[in-house]
Amino acid sequence: MSAEIAIDSSAKASQKAVESTMLSPRFYTTDFAAMDRLDVSALRSEWDTMMTEYEGDNNHDHFQRTPEFAQEVAERFSQVSPEMRQEFLEFLISSLTSEFSGCILYNEIFKNVENPDIKQLMRYMARDESRHASFINQSLKDFGLGIDLGDLKRTKAYTYFKPKYIFYATYLSEKIGYARYITIYRQLEKNPDKRFHPIFKWFERWCNDEFRHGESFALIMRANPHLLRGGNVYWIRFFLLAVYATMYVRDHTRPMLHHEMGLESTSYDYTVFRITNEITKQVFPVSLDIDHPAFRAGLARLFHIQTQMDAAKAQGGVWGTLRRAGWAAAGLATFVRLYFQPVQHHALPAQVRMAPAW
Ligand SMILES: [Fe+2]
Ligand SMILES: [Fe+2]
Repeated sequence: MSAEIAIDSSAKASQKAVESTMLSPRFYTTDFAAMDRLDVSALRSEWDTMMTEYEGDNNHDHFQRTPEFAQEVAERFSQVSPEMRQEFLEFLISSLTSEFSGCILYNEIFKNVENPDIKQLMRYMARDESRHASFINQSLKDFGLGIDLGDLKRTKAYTYFKPKYIFYATYLSEKIGYARYITIYRQLEKNPDKRFHPIFKWFERWCNDEFRHGESFALIMRANPHLLRGGNVYWIRFFLLAVYATMYVRDHTRPMLHHEMGLESTSYDYTVFRITNEITKQVFPVSLDIDHPAFRAGLARLFHIQTQMDAAKAQGGVWGTLRRAGWAAAGLATFVRLYFQPVQHHALPAQVRMAPAW
């Protein structure tokens, strides 16, 4: 299934980045005063070790293109089909939007807090995300599809999240981002003939940045353990499911992208879920039972519902609108059923930090 709009100009690429749908990456804003009051002193020594790593900046020279980059794009990427090209461009645009979303959020928190720990962390993370976003944008510029990031910052809608929702959602998106990039990197490392674009060679060191960003939120949450107990566990379950389900549906709308890498969307997604489940045990007391047949059937149904909603939207008119509303209700019911599936419980480890060992 392809995009409703063919991405053949910079304006259309920007339009795609600005659009707000259930599945597209969002921009966030939060309560800066509450961020300012955060205290990480309960985990001071782990925090300081992490800050030293940020300061060491081992990726400072990583996001530069090699002289062969353009040549590889010309030789290899020019061979992919037009449909595949569209899927890859959509992938680049949604990846750029998420990277830039992190950059804006971290930078706004940096500008609006005095708390030295949080201020320092946000400055480092904004630095990393800005590099990631510009690196992807260079690849869009190769096709004349560069996005004006200043313009995107001004025009895209912002969603307000309380700090605790930012922690759950951003922690997860950093860790799942790591799991996605490392899974692709390992696949293409084994099958270099499937590496249809040179950008994937950058994913290994790149995703270590994302892993460390996730570690930062893990330390914030573990230093404030009330965020991980009681009624908050229901919010954690909600964010786990929302993030997993969104990724599943979005990836299944781009089957060619995975196929071209020698992957298949369902098995790729479950590999990513498995890695993310293992990592999130450092902080979340629950994880989703991803191997339960009802869980798998529920996600597959969500994707089916999404395809039906897209068809109803394309049909338009009164009947199309009604059908769309019907499928939206079915989607909500499926999500609620998935939410009440039993989850796995575990005790949190004494040591919070983990190594990116996948
Ligand atoms: Fe990033
Ligand atoms: Fe990140």
